[in-house]
Amino acid sequence: MRLILIGPPGAGKGTQCQRLVELLRVPHLSTGEMLRAEVRSATTAGREAARFMDQGQLVPDPIIVGMVSRRLQAPDCRGGCLLDGFPRTLHQAETLDDLLERRAMSVDGVIELAVPRDELVRRMLARGREDDDPEIFAKRISSFEVQTAPLLDYYGRQGKLASIDGLGTADEIFERVRAAVRRFDRTLRGR
Ligand code: AP5
Ligand code: MG
Repeated sequence: MRLILIGPPGAGKGTQCQRLVELLRVPHLSTGEMLRAEVRSATTAGREAARFMDQGQLVPDPIIVGMVSRRLQAPDCRGGCLLDGFPRTLHQAETLDDLLERRAMSVDGVIELAVPRDELVRRMLARGREDDDPEIFAKRISSFEVQTAPLLDYYGRQGKLASIDGLGTADEIFERVRAAVRRFDRTLRGR
């Protein structure tokens, strides 16, 4: 199964993907994690990406699309994958559709984790990652609202979207995620 998790910064995409990996036995592709690895290794892409991440802005598509498309071609992604943090713009969503179509594949389902802003801020302050500074965090939230939220419509129109309440314990939320996955699974079988 090819699943996308969408949600604002701190919504719990990474947390739920860790659990989904166990359930679905497919790799977890987090563009944020991939970028942080590039930054740590001080590659050309990493140095370029850091300039945007440090400002809470999206990293330019040439870096992101190249990275994701290489990863999607790896043999372990043949049976499916979890996409966390990608796509983040309509252009990225269309690029993903093209990449998958060329391999006779498609996105099977999209899970939105909806969390109110005050809770996102609480989680961010409790974590303290490099880009969890209040000012940068506000920019990340606004980038989500302006650039990423339109994807909810894009996938909603295709009947692929499940919107989930992202408040509660991680286990409670995972139960909702699991129910959505079961629905996607039934749709897939019915095709
Ligand atoms: P990315 O790493 O994707 O960050 P993000 O979207 O801002 O999301 P986070 O990782 O902060 O949150 P999450 O939803 O994964 O939540 P988590 O499970 O960690 O991107 C970072 C940057 O990279 C971007 O700003 C951009 O610059 C760049 N980038 C990445 N992808 C890109 C793309 N496609 N295009 C362009 N640029 C891109 O949980 C958050 C915290 O809350 C944790 O501490 C967790 O323990 C806690 N928590 C989780 N669930 C709960 C719960 N139920 N209750 C209480 N606490 C909880
Ligand atoms: Mg994350």
